[in-house]
This record gives sequence, structure tokens and C-alpha cells, in this order.
Amino acid sequence: MRNFNFKNGTEIIFGKDSESQVGTLIKKYTNKILLHYGGGSIKKTGLYDKVIKSLKDSNIEFVELSGVKPNPRVSLVREGIKICRDNNIDFILAVGGGSVIDSSKAIAAGVNYNGDVWDLFIDTPINHKCIQLATILTIPAAGSETSSGCVITNEDGLYKRSTGHPTLRPVFSIMNPELTYTLPKYQTSCGIADMFAHILERYFTNEPNVDLTDRLCEGTMKAIIDNALRLNINPNDYNARAEIMLSGMVAHNGSLDMGRLGDWASHDIEHELSGVYDIAHGAGLAIIFPAWMKFVYKHDINRFAQFANRVFDIDINLNNLEETALKGIKALEDFFTAIELPTRLSHVDIDDSNLEEMSNKLVAHTDHVGNFVQIRAKEALEILKLAL
Ligand code: NZQ
Ligand code: ZN
Repeated sequence: MRNFNFKNGTEIIFGKDSESQVGTLIKKYTNKILLHYGGGSIKKTGLYDKVIKSLKDSNIEFVELSGVKPNPRVSLVREGIKICRDNNIDFILAVGGGSVIDSSKAIAAGVNYNGDVWDLFIDTPINHKCIQLATILTIPAAGSETSSGCVITNEDGLYKRSTGHPTLRPVFSIMNPELTYTLPKYQTSCGIADMFAHILERYFTNEPNVDLTDRLCEGTMKAIIDNALRLNINPNDYNARAEIMLSGMVAHNGSLDMGRLGDWASHDIEHELSGVYDIAHGAGLAIIFPAWMKFVYKHDINRFAQFANRVFDIDINLNNLEETALKGIKALEDFFTAIELPTRLSHVDIDDSNLEEMSNKLVAHTDHVGNFVQIRAKEALEILKLAL
């Protein structure tokens, strides 16, 4: 097991009607905020009105910035930074999913930075003070509600890049599973694929002696599978929604990382896909992850057989571990199919025309991606071809 530091200071307020506490919670930090949200789902669902009431009840002054798109854009981030500077705002409330939260984090990182915020996604580490943020989560998926990371797309060149800093973890996150009833089936499933992928990225490690975190990963994956299939039958099953919401947070809050080094090549490859084609991140992962697994499984066939056995209850064939490993990959694809996700590029009408461009962009700012197996442009191209 590797040495590690673990600290996650995000306060979680979980459960029914928890959003009505938002004003009181913010009052502990400030009297004035930027209220940041997306394309309007929060207005349709009535959440916006509840938030405004709670803010007014607590006498919190707010300036609004809406319009965050999935795969959030740096241009809106720049707008948010200007609003915060012009209005002396040092606290952001993100109401929405990973895109809104990441846009808020980028604003939080940019307010006290003298250069252009995009630098922080390319070559400038964050070593200045970020302003604080909090969230009301409306889609369990990215795990950004407790993570230190942030992913933004630059429309200029269609680069999707990430940055991170411990102070970008929200000070609190409100998580009411009932707020997720209004999600379209596809978005629910994309979120499930994303949180599942966050665990897989950690699970496929070269670190020996990580039994506890292996088991935590496997248990969380099993809980996700069971409850995702329950939501297939009844999308308004509160307890299944709650399990999925909790899983999405556990998958990415850093606790499953303890003592191990994750891979993250599939995420980096997917970011090229959603950067260029603007598809949902979770859908991209349902396509890329199985292809990556087919490309790398021989690197540690025992770990892949363990995954098949412990997560999908596939009997281990000791005479043919490769067969067991491949059955595990197939079971993962079948799970994604069962929740109506694409598992091939052709399912989302993507052909081979930009595969080389994406493979080259992947390593435009780095030597390689991935830790379990190092991936450069040549290997990425093979993985993308396997995904066709
Ligand atoms: O914009 P609105 O109108 O709110 O609609 C959103 C959006 O269209 C809709 N939605 C959200 N909650 C809803 C709802 N519709 C109805 N009812 C609700 N309760 O869902 C759509 C998708 O929202 P989005 O925020 O884009 O989804 P998600 O949470 O999956 O976030 C994806 C982004 O997170 C990044 C991804 O790359 C992607 O850009 N990630 C961030 C990470 C992090 N910061 O730690 C890690 C992840 O690996 C990921 O890369
Ligand atoms: Zn992800």
C-alpha cells in the first residue's frame, strides 16, 4: 500500500427537503453570493423557487449567472469571474450537476488569478487563494460535489481539460435524492456510468496489498448495479435514488483512492470525445471503458478475473483466466446496455474520421495518460478503434 494523505472537508447535508436549509447554511459563510446554474431544469422542477425563498429568508444577497451547458465552457467561466470581481463576491452557490459545479469551481479558481483562467487548465498550478463554493446537487454522476477536480471545455480548439486543488472542494453539498426524479432516463444512466467509471479508474491499479479498498470498490460497484436495475423498474424508488446518489459521492470523494494509484486513461480519452463531439461524459465512458479494458486486460489478468468474479459473480475458470476476464468485460457492457447506454461509437453516430486527431490531442500537453498501462497516441488510436 502507498503512503497517502486523506482529507475531505465537504459537509454533506443528505436527504428529503435538505435544500430548504441552503440559506441558513450559507449564512455561516457570507451574506452575498453568485447563484450559478444551468440551462433551466431547476426552474422547471421548482427547485429555483425554493432556493430563492431560502436565500431571501436568510437575507442573502445574490447575483445570478445561468446558462452552463453540459461540458461547461470557459467563456461563461470568464463571465462569472468578472461578475464576482465587479460585485465583490467571494462565495458561489452551484445548483445543478457536474457541469454547473465545475463551472463554479473554475470561477472560484479564476477570481484571484491575474492571468486568463484557461492557464490553470494547461500549465499553471493553482497556488493562489480560491473563493469558496457550495452545491445543491441535482444529478448523481461526476462526484464534483465533494471532489477537488474541475473539468472545462475551451471552445477555441475544442480542448477539454481538468485542473484541481484541495480548496476547490465545496464547503458543503446538499444532496436530496428526490431532486433526481425529474432526470430523463438517459441522464440517470449517464450518471451511473460515470460513477461506475470513477471506481474502475481506481480499481485498475498496479499497487499490491490494497485489499480493503478493493473490497470497498467492489461493494460500491455491486450497490450501483443493484440500484440502477431497480431504477429501470421504478425511477421514483426513493431508496434506489438515495443509494445511487450516495454511491456517486463515495465513488469520487477520494476515500476509494487511499493507498493506491488509479489509472484515469479512459477519462482522459473520453474527454477528447466529449470535447470534440459534445456527447454526455457518462455515455462516452460507457463506450471507452470496455474498449480500454479489452486493450489492457492482459497486463494483469488476475485483477480482471477478480473483477469478473467479485463484481459480476462470474465463476473463475482457473484453467482459463482469460476467459473469466473477458466474461467480466462483457458483463460490464451488458450492464451498460441494460440501462440503455451506448457501448460503441457507432451507437452515437461517430465514425473513424477524427480518431487520429483525438489520439494526438490526448497527448498534446503531456507525455502519456494512464498509470495502470501508459497510453500514448498510438495506443489511444487502438482503443478508439476497438470502440468503433
Ligand atoms: O442544464 P440543466 O438545464 O440543469 O440540465 C442538465 C443537463 O442538461 C440536466 N439535469 C441536471 N439535473 C437535472 C437535470 N434535468 C432534469 N432534472 C434534474 N434534476 O442534466 C444534464 C447534464 O448535466 P451535467 O451537469 O452536464 O451532468 P454531469 O453531472 O454528468 O456532469 C458532467 C460534467 O462533469 C465533468 C464531465 O467531464 C462533464 O463535463 N466531470 C467532472 C468531474 C469532477 N469535477 O470531479 C469528474 C468527472 O469524471 C467528470 O469528468
Ligand atoms: Zn467521470
